[in-house]
Amino acid sequence: MTSALQQPADAPAPRPGALAIDAYVPGKSKAPEGVRLRKLSSNETPLGPSPRAVEAFRTAADNLEIYPDGTARALREAIARAHGLDPDRIVCGAGSDELLSLLALGYVGPGDEGLFTEHGFLVYRIAILAAGGTPIVAPETNLTADVDAILARVTERTRIVYIANPNNPTGTYLPFDEVKRLQAGLPRNTLLVLDAAYAEYVRANDYAAGIELVSSCENVVMTRTFSKAFGLASLRIGWLYGPAGVVEALNRIRGPFNVSGPAIAAGAAAVADREHIDRAVEHNARWLAELSERIRDLGFEVTPSVANFLLIHFPDEPGRRAVDADAFLTARGLILRAVGAYGLPNALRMSVGSEDANRAVLVALAEFAKGPQLG
Ligand SMILES: Cc1ncc(COP(=O)(O)O)c(C=O)c1O
Repeated sequence: MTSALQQPADAPAPRPGALAIDAYVPGKSKAPEGVRLRKLSSNETPLGPSPRAVEAFRTAADNLEIYPDGTARALREAIARAHGLDPDRIVCGAGSDELLSLLALGYVGPGDEGLFTEHGFLVYRIAILAAGGTPIVAPETNLTADVDAILARVTERTRIVYIANPNNPTGTYLPFDEVKRLQAGLPRNTLLVLDAAYAEYVRANDYAAGIELVSSCENVVMTRTFSKAFGLASLRIGWLYGPAGVVEALNRIRGPFNVSGPAIAAGAAAVADREHIDRAVEHNARWLAELSERIRDLGFEVTPSVANFLLIHFPDEPGRRAVDADAFLTARGLILRAVGAYGLPNALRMSVGSEDANRAVLVALAEFAKGPQLG
C-alpha cells in the first residue's frame, strides 16, 4: 500500500485501513471565469446564519488569544434549553463529522465491523476505516435505508450502525417506527448512530430525530449540526446527544479544545434564534415542493426528499446523462453535486438555494431537457 505513496519501504506507514480510504471530495465551488456562481452543491442554507450569531462571532473576535472553554458549556446549555435536554449528555464537536469519527474511534477497532447503507453518507466508511474497522454495506430499497437488510448484516462483530435520517444524498428518511424497529433488533452492545444533520427541515409527521430513543436506550446516539439550517458550516459546529457512557468515552477521546470560542458563542446565539430557523425551514419547504414538481414536469425523475436538497435522475442516453447536465449547468455557473461516489452515477444532487438560484436552475434544466447538447 505504501507504494501508492511512492515513499521508501522503510518510511513510516499509516495504520492498516488508512490507505483504503478514498478521501472525501467536497462539492465543487467554482464557476467558469466571468460567470456568476450559484453554489448548490453542499446543502448550505441560502438564508445564511442568524444575525445574532454573526454578532456573537464578531464579539468573540476580541478574545482570540484565550483558549475556549474546553467543555463548550455555554453552547451545550443553549442547545439543552432549545431542545429540553440534559446538557451533561451533550458533546460538541468541530462539525458533526468530528463526532461521527470519534464514535468510530471510541467503539470500533481492528476486527470489528461498522454498518451503513448503500447510498449512505460517505463519512461513515471513512470513520470506520480510519478506526481500523471493516465497513459493511447494507443494500437499500427505493433509495431508502432498509431495516431488514441492515439487521440481516449484523454479526457479533458489529460495533456500530450509522443511519443518516434523512439521508444525504437521497433525501429519503426512515419513519420513527422503523428506527425503533431497527434499535429493537440490534444487539444491546451495538451502537446505533442516528445522524440527524437535516432534522430541522423535516416536516413528515412520522419522523423523529431520535431524542426520545436516546433517552430510553443505552445504545443510541443522535448527532446534529449547525452547518445546514443554522447556516454556520464554516464555523464547524456539531453536537451529539447520547447515553452517559458514550458521552464519557467521547469526552476522554476528543481534543481538549475541539470547539473554538467563536463557534461556541455563535452556536449558542444561533440556537436561541428560533425565528431565523423558522424562516429557513419555511423557505425550504416552499422551494423543495416547487422544485420537485417543476423538475418532474420537465421529465426528470426526482427522488422524494424531506431535506434541503433533491436528487435528480437523468436519462441514460448520450448527451442527456448526469455528466452532461453537470457540464451544461456548470457552464452557466450552476454548481450541483455529482454523486457518483455514492453509487449514483446518473444523478445530480441540488441543494435548495435562493429564489434566484432555484429559478436559474429551472430555466437551465428546461433548456437541457430539450435534447442532446451539441457543445
Ligand atoms: C448526513 C450528514 N451528516 C453529517 C454531515 C456533516 O456535517 P458537519 O460536519 O458540517 O456538521 C453532513 C454534511 O454534509 C451530512 O450530509
